[in-house]
Amino acid sequence: MPITKKDFGQTPSGEKVHAYLLDNGKGVAAEIITYGGILKNLYVIDRNGVKTDVVLGRETLDDYLKNDGYLGALIGRHANRISGSAFELNGTVYKVGANEGRNSLHGGINGFDKKVWSAKALDTDEPSLKLSIVSPDGEEGFPGTLSVTVTYTVTADNALKISYKAVSDKDTVVNLTNHAYFNLAGHDSGTVDKQILQINSSFYTPNDSECMPTGEVLSVAGTPFDFRAPKPIGQDIDADFEQIEMFGGYDHNFALTGRGYRLGASVMCEENGICMEMCTDKSAVQLYTSNGLKEGKYKGGAKYGVHCGFCLETQYFPNAMAHSHYPSPILKKGEEYSFTTAYKFIVK
Ligand code: BGC
Repeated sequence: MPITKKDFGQTPSGEKVHAYLLDNGKGVAAEIITYGGILKNLYVIDRNGVKTDVVLGRETLDDYLKNDGYLGALIGRHANRISGSAFELNGTVYKVGANEGRNSLHGGINGFDKKVWSAKALDTDEPSLKLSIVSPDGEEGFPGTLSVTVTYTVTADNALKISYKAVSDKDTVVNLTNHAYFNLAGHDSGTVDKQILQINSSFYTPNDSECMPTGEVLSVAGTPFDFRAPKPIGQDIDADFEQIEMFGGYDHNFALTGRGYRLGASVMCEENGICMEMCTDKSAVQLYTSNGLKEGKYKGGAKYGVHCGFCLETQYFPNAMAHSHYPSPILKKGEEYSFTTAYKFIVK
């Protein structure tokens, strides 16, 4: 199926970066750059036949070299936060890169979002791009040489499927995700407040002032975190509720109901009919409503700001090494870490 490749510049150290367009010929196409494995554009045709780019992005490689906010990037080795940038594994304390005060966010100082990934377009019925990197033992302080592949596929049924795999030569921790900011009305359409979200989750993890889970797992019932029935993202985004006020919106981990590959969340844009279903076999998802997105010009001269996108980052619970009752992000030597998340588009 059609995959086109073009140059996307080179990094200051001279590494060449390419952009791949994966088009399923049925109205969904994804553009991915090898720097950070970044999902730069994701096109969906809306109910009026308008080609709509539903992810926020930047224009040039230079814009992405300092990708504040991790727009569209692959995140590793450890998505979300590690408290005090340290964890204990097999009796050893590992210190990892601190890049948010004393804490580590999204893999540390030089996370996977800043790597140039090797790319291979796969000759399959559905356009597919396999990205890979090898992260050396001790990189950013994490133990083990970690071999990672992430495969993006635009499926015949209009999903962007992301399959993550990793294997390490020592026991380690791994928590990979993608940090796409979605806006189903179009990346340049303003806030996502009116888009209607449903999350298959009855429990969320509240955060302390550093956006670090406190360890509690609380019921969503009667709180702004109750997305069990669909409601507009903006309905409670300014609620008089401490966990919302502290972060200027949602920046929280939701425990997904059930196990195995299942529907985790769905979102609908009534204006253009674009609906998105997120399926995953991960245990949790971070809902982040771009509370800290810097105002400014982005791709095509678009202006973004606070609440102009929502992220559904599938993950282990944040800072899970500090909480033994959370699902464990430990990857044993030689075992395979593997999961899939897909964002499927349906136009109504
Ligand atoms: C985090 C936010 C952070 C954002 C961008 C999200 O995954 O939960 O706290 O601001 O990423 O870095």
